[in-house]
Amino acid sequence: MNTTALNGQIVPTLCNYEIKHDRLKKWVQEVAALCKPDSVYFCDGSEQENQRLLEEMVAQGRLIRLNPEKRPNSYLARSDASDVARVEDRTFVCTTRQTDAGPNNNWMDPEQMKATLKRLFEGSMRGRTMYVVPFSMGPIGSPLSHIGIEITDSPYVVVSMRIMTRMGKEVVNALGYNGNFVPCLHSVGAPLAPGQKDVAWPCNAETKYIVHFPETREIWSYGSGYGGNALLGKKCFALRIASHMAREEGWLAEHMLILGIESPEGKKAYMAAAFPSACGKTNLAMLIPPPALKNWRVTTIGDDIAWIKPGHDGKFYAINPEAGYFGVAPGTSYKTNPNAMATISENCIFTNVAMTLDGDVWWEGMTDEKPAQLIDWQGQPWTPASSRPAAHPNARFTVPVKQCPSLDPDWDKTEGVPISAFIFGGRRRKAVPLVVESFNWNFGVYMAATMGSETTAAASGQIGQVRRDPMAMLPFCGYHMGAYFGHWLSMGRKSQKPPRVFCVNWFLTDEHGKFIWPGFGENMRILKWIFERVHSRTEAMQSPLGWMPHYEDIDWSGLNGITDEVWQRLTQIDAAAWHEELELHAELFDKLKDQLPRMFALKRELLRLSLSVNHKP
Ligand code: GTP
Ligand code: SPV
Ligand code: MN
Repeated sequence: MNTTALNGQIVPTLCNYEIKHDRLKKWVQEVAALCKPDSVYFCDGSEQENQRLLEEMVAQGRLIRLNPEKRPNSYLARSDASDVARVEDRTFVCTTRQTDAGPNNNWMDPEQMKATLKRLFEGSMRGRTMYVVPFSMGPIGSPLSHIGIEITDSPYVVVSMRIMTRMGKEVVNALGYNGNFVPCLHSVGAPLAPGQKDVAWPCNAETKYIVHFPETREIWSYGSGYGGNALLGKKCFALRIASHMAREEGWLAEHMLILGIESPEGKKAYMAAAFPSACGKTNLAMLIPPPALKNWRVTTIGDDIAWIKPGHDGKFYAINPEAGYFGVAPGTSYKTNPNAMATISENCIFTNVAMTLDGDVWWEGMTDEKPAQLIDWQGQPWTPASSRPAAHPNARFTVPVKQCPSLDPDWDKTEGVPISAFIFGGRRRKAVPLVVESFNWNFGVYMAATMGSETTAAASGQIGQVRRDPMAMLPFCGYHMGAYFGHWLSMGRKSQKPPRVFCVNWFLTDEHGKFIWPGFGENMRILKWIFERVHSRTEAMQSPLGWMPHYEDIDWSGLNGITDEVWQRLTQIDAAAWHEELELHAELFDKLKDQLPRMFALKRELLRLSLSVNHKP
């Protein structure tokens, strides 16, 4: 134990390794002086440290140890009912000029925001330990990776960051004397008065601020302990700050899964796919082909975020900057995602799921039959007669990627994997067909930029409303969305062979609200068609939106039920619905007009004409 003198105060500080980085030491001291924790602890990332923190949290009632026979080394956290998802309306991007943040971000002047935050962080860690969490997004030392240091007063964040990132003293070593890091400051905003008893999930029910300063590459997050609000390596760094860095440096930071596909002949292709939150990235990334296509294999690189850089050969190379999955629990089952179920069999932190009477976990959709009795996500007794769900709809598991049976052998490769296709998908009951390949890069960027999706847990407003969610990045783009489209267009110009662009929609429903497409493992049939298109083997049908498969282009072996007639419904382009879509495109463009690529108006006009020629409204 050594002690750090801070403006006359002494904060006991524990660090069991050497830190040569003066800027880091100075920043930690400044933060300690501001937040006034009882002590400062530098995390080393070791298993002992992890076990000690977990045990402490169990003793304090912040975590529940699950039955070790059912779920070895696994824990359940129950959050405060006011702190269950990202808070988009409390998320800010603070740039000197408001236009640089764009209408897609909440904005405040950086100096004004800093002043507000300093008032909030002043003494915010009283009665708590301040943890210093060094982490690397991407393999430590890779030229594609970037380092962050999160300071947090939440031990739940520490153990979660250890799963989600490469965390520990090796990262500080990699920083050396003067390496760059993104400072990520986090407080749950719940200081303790002397003798005050803590609660199981401290947070600030009144005040939350998730703030990004892209120009100085800093993150300040106050008041929430949940997910993307608090695990700052994820959305705050790897998407909002990184998208800004990526634009400056000529790469892409995207809300995309990365998967590999291996054909029966041993050919391999990698694809990256963007879907909004809770729209099936984890499922697609871990897909198991149906029995009739069992000679095909899908391997997993990532399920949420991709960092993509052009290589010297003109191809795009992608890494998953994360080391864990923070996956949606409800709906995950041996039927929908057996690989995820195997992944979470041990060493897992569950948040806001229900607990069975024998100390295991349960959530809606895990089994066909509901258990007769459960403890719900708020710790209350629950039976199938209860009207509320047992698990919160945004309940999550946090688990190391290494436990995934379908993990790609190259998931950790420092240079990344070459991407041959981008897939964009949203949750749409109508209008958007099952699959279509864009005519070219620029039109693909247009289609991805104008995609819509029904909203899920983190967005404010009503769940299930269709909103434009360009590239599934609406809540995550750290700068003006119009400039972001321009950046995508420029990435295509720079590359001799940019990936092909596809749009998919697994979520079409019939007049009874039932999904028409079976989805999940059956999505393999569409991935196979994409794979074949990428290798230029198949013919396709031209439509106003792009190339689509004929009925006979899809491998239907082992699947009954998709008749020619059903196929028509899955692939039809309803001209009236598309003329409505075009109005919504125009609405989006109007919002972004000060930085929208001029090409977009032209593309929209071409699309309108081609829809009118092919399908008279
Ligand atoms: P974030 O982690 O929030 O970014 O989301 P994600 O995209 O990883 O979400 P996830 O994979 O957990 O999405 C789960 C939701 O998508 C559940 O409601 C699933 O039932 C649904 N889902 C996934 N795949 C399919 C599919 O092929 N068809 C249908 N109809 N639903 C699907
Ligand atoms: C998402 O909302 O897209 C997530 C979960 O992946 S969170 O990390 O909470 O943002
Ligand atoms: Mn996500």
